[in-house]
Amino acid sequence: MLPKYRRQHSDGPMASMAPPVRASNPAADSANGGKLFADYGCNACHAIRKKGGKPQFPDLADEAKAHDGAWLDRWLKDPAALKKGTFMARSSLTQTQRHALVEYISLAREEVKT
Ligand code: HEC
Repeated sequence: MLPKYRRQHSDGPMASMAPPVRASNPAADSANGGKLFADYGCNACHAIRKKGGKPQFPDLADEAKAHDGAWLDRWLKDPAALKKGTFMARSSLTQTQRHALVEYISLAREEVKT
C-alpha cells in the first residue's frame, strides 16, 4: 500500500504534477552480501566460510543448511517473529540488502555441501 502522502498527491488535482514514483536506488553496496555481513556486524556473532563469529553462535554455513532462501529472508526481516526470545536482534535491512545477505549465506552453504 502506498503511504498516505503519496496517495493524496497522485489522486489530487495536482496529480499530473506529482513526481514519478522512483524505483529505489540503493547504494551499490546494498547488493554486496559479503560487505553487508561485515558492515552490519553479522560476523561478530556468526562464522561463515570459517571466518569470524563466536563459538556460542551458529556457524551460518552449517546452520543455514536446513533453511531455504524464503526462510532466511523472513529471519532477517524479524528474527523474533520466527523464534521468540532469540538473542539475535533485528537489523533494519532493505529488501535488496536482505536478498544480498541471503544469497551470500546460501552460497556459503552450497560450498559446504560439496
Ligand atoms: C549478537 C549476535 C548476533 C548478531 C550480531 C547476528 N546474529 Fe544471527 N543469530 C544469532 C543467534 C544467537 C542465532 C540463533 C538463533 C537462536 O537460536 O536464537 C542467530 C541465527 C541466525 C540465522 C539462522 C541460522 C539458522 O539457520 O538457524 C541467520 C541466517 C542469521 N543469524 C544471520 C545473521 C545475519 C545476516 C546477521 C547480520 C545482519 C546476524 N545474523 C547478526 C546471533 C547474532
